[in-house]
Amino acid sequence: MQVMMTGPDSNRYAKCIEVSKRIRWEIDRDVIRGRTFDFSRKFLPDRLSMLPALTFLSEREARFLSQIQGRTYANMFALVERYIGAKVAELGHAHALGDQVAFEALVRVADEELKHQELFRRLERMAGDQMPAGYVFKPEPNEVAAAVLSKSTWAVMALTLDIEIFTQVHYRASIEPDTQLSDLWKDVFLFHWKEESQHAILDELEWRAEHARLSEAEREQGVRDLIDLVAAVDGIVRMQASADASYFIATAGRSFSAAEKTAIGDVVLRAYRSQYIVSGAQEPRFGAVLAELTTPAQMERIGAALGPIVASTGPHMH
Ligand SMILES: [Fe+2]
Ligand SMILES: [Fe+2]
Repeated sequence: MQVMMTGPDSNRYAKCIEVSKRIRWEIDRDVIRGRTFDFSRKFLPDRLSMLPALTFLSEREARFLSQIQGRTYANMFALVERYIGAKVAELGHAHALGDQVAFEALVRVADEELKHQELFRRLERMAGDQMPAGYVFKPEPNEVAAAVLSKSTWAVMALTLDIEIFTQVHYRASIEPDTQLSDLWKDVFLFHWKEESQHAILDELEWRAEHARLSEAEREQGVRDLIDLVAAVDGIVRMQASADASYFIATAGRSFSAAEKTAIGDVVLRAYRSQYIVSGAQEPRFGAVLAELTTPAQMERIGAALGPIVASTGPHMH
């Protein structure tokens, strides 16, 4: 019985539980605190939104487009958290009659992701109350979750580690240092980042554990599935970039030339590909684990699948 209570990585799981308890926050008491969004300020920082590339926009227009991108940014997290919560609950169940520390750590992640989804739904309602009608968030969380969860655990955990690492990179490198952002929007991603730090550690433990259980053929299937998932994420990103560019053009309050409309669509797509695909894939911490869990030939295939997406976002990525 004693042996069943803990596993080889119990200390690392235990550390995540300890930090998770220490930094635990509540939506109203700690994050929203009775505030609404300040629409005189940007939401998404320039480094992520790429809006300085659209030199023909006025300051007010660029700010509005950063708010649209920031609204989608919150919705994208709510979207992926649907599948992440479900996957983590499934992985937790595999520990349920074994390592109780790992079980507790994963139950906490599932609980936190449910809270994050509630927070992001609240923000979407608040944004909807104050922004012009017509915004549409296209992807449907349960449909996307069903498609992602149909893939192998190896691939799902690779995608999840990628997402949970870029969440932190965006906050530390771009959101935190920007003093021009809406205080509420910025705080949301400060509090989100605090809990996501533990999630990324647990993703890596679970991905490695799954990798160790698989045959070479199953790992090969994992790589194929990961390439499929990257293509699926790109499909979602293209759909939403197009919706957000159209919403901006329809509600900005003036007309744009055909060339300007094309430029708006291109920059929003580049920004979204960079935010949701390239920034995570190029993050050294993710790349190191991926390189360890793949053969050079598999790594090359993943690189080839990412190649056109990376190239389309230009050379100055973060
Ligand atoms: Fe989250
Ligand atoms: Fe998370």
